[in-house]
Amino acid sequence: YNLLNNNTFGVSEECRRFVQCDTVDELRRMLLSLTDKDTPLLVIGQGSNLLLTKRFDGTVLRSNIKGIEVIESGDEDCVLVRCGSGECFDDVVDYCVSHGYHGAENLSIIPGDVGASAVQNIGAYGCEAKDIIHSVEALDIVTGEQAVFTNEDCHYGYRRSRFKEEWKGRYIVTYVTYKLAKTFVPHLEYGNIISELERRGITNPDAKDVREVIIDIRNAKLPDPKVEGNAGSFFMNPVVPVETFRRLLADYPSMPHYHIDEEHEKIPAGWLIEKCGWKGRGLSSEGKMADGAECKAVVHSKQALVLVNKGGATGADIVALSDAIRRSVREKFGVDIYPEVNFL
Ligand code: EPU
Repeated sequence: YNLLNNNTFGVSEECRRFVQCDTVDELRRMLLSLTDKDTPLLVIGQGSNLLLTKRFDGTVLRSNIKGIEVIESGDEDCVLVRCGSGECFDDVVDYCVSHGYHGAENLSIIPGDVGASAVQNIGAYGCEAKDIIHSVEALDIVTGEQAVFTNEDCHYGYRRSRFKEEWKGRYIVTYVTYKLAKTFVPHLEYGNIISELERRGITNPDAKDVREVIIDIRNAKLPDPKVEGNAGSFFMNPVVPVETFRRLLADYPSMPHYHIDEEHEKIPAGWLIEKCGWKGRGLSSEGKMADGAECKAVVHSKQALVLVNKGGATGADIVALSDAIRRSVREKFGVDIYPEVNFL
């Protein structure tokens, strides 16, 4: 089975078997019927954070569990919205914004499914999925038993959760329940949201305004995977010790940065990569930095954190570019950056 249409990078790789399940019962029956010849198992969503580097000699499993259901929370200021893991995450954001349930608007048009939001703790514009996740339902892949986790159980951090770490390969998410507020509390501190609102003459924005502005900001700098294959940010933004941060700031006083705590600061990897000269560039067949026009895998020309498949790039081409970028950031800044995308 070719996974070309199941990864937003648009890489052509095969797996032995591909299965989609529409309900929890169907999923449980499928899990219990798996034999050794069906393993290993890989759970994917829309494949928007996935880099295929070789054939997968096992079963790829996708939840197609749908549904968006509002549950009164008992707290009159909040609602709970329980969503099937195969639901498109942005459809949930759109639903919440249009029904007056607040807190998801800053996460507008992040690619991916509901299930991935709970595994990856997706985030943007000063908010993360963990800020709205109330609980996560999952099936144990081996026993088929149902498990329900609270937000605290999932140990969320920056693009991290237990599902990616000690629980890796153990569960498949079936439903995520988000907790949204009926009162709108805007989060406009990140980047240029306020200036974009002002430019439109909006001084007292509602959630719909925030969603619209964020959609426009994202569309202006992030490539559309339907046009150019990509997986959003390819690297995580490195969190560096304050000594490293001070050394860098002395050399680059205009370097953007985000305060984490007394001992750590976060530096945008996109800025580091751009400063190394990679924006719009790729790798030549000799493994040297080259004009993007000559390459299949390139660094996006408007956002250096995004790697793009201009057509026909293999997973290996993208890995080679990623390795070269990591080397040059290390050499120039003495900082290690790590992929955010999951390699297979
Ligand atoms: N920057 C540059 N050059 C670049 C890219 C960025 O100088 O080529 C600078 C920008 O000028 C800005 C700073 O770096 O001062 C941050 O840039 P941006 O706001 O574009 O965000 P980011 O840190 O590059 C992160 C997330 C994105 C999310 C945005 C907005 C990660 C790995 N990425 O990117 O998430 O949309 O913030 O919140 O944390 C994703 O995960 O796939 C993703 C797109």
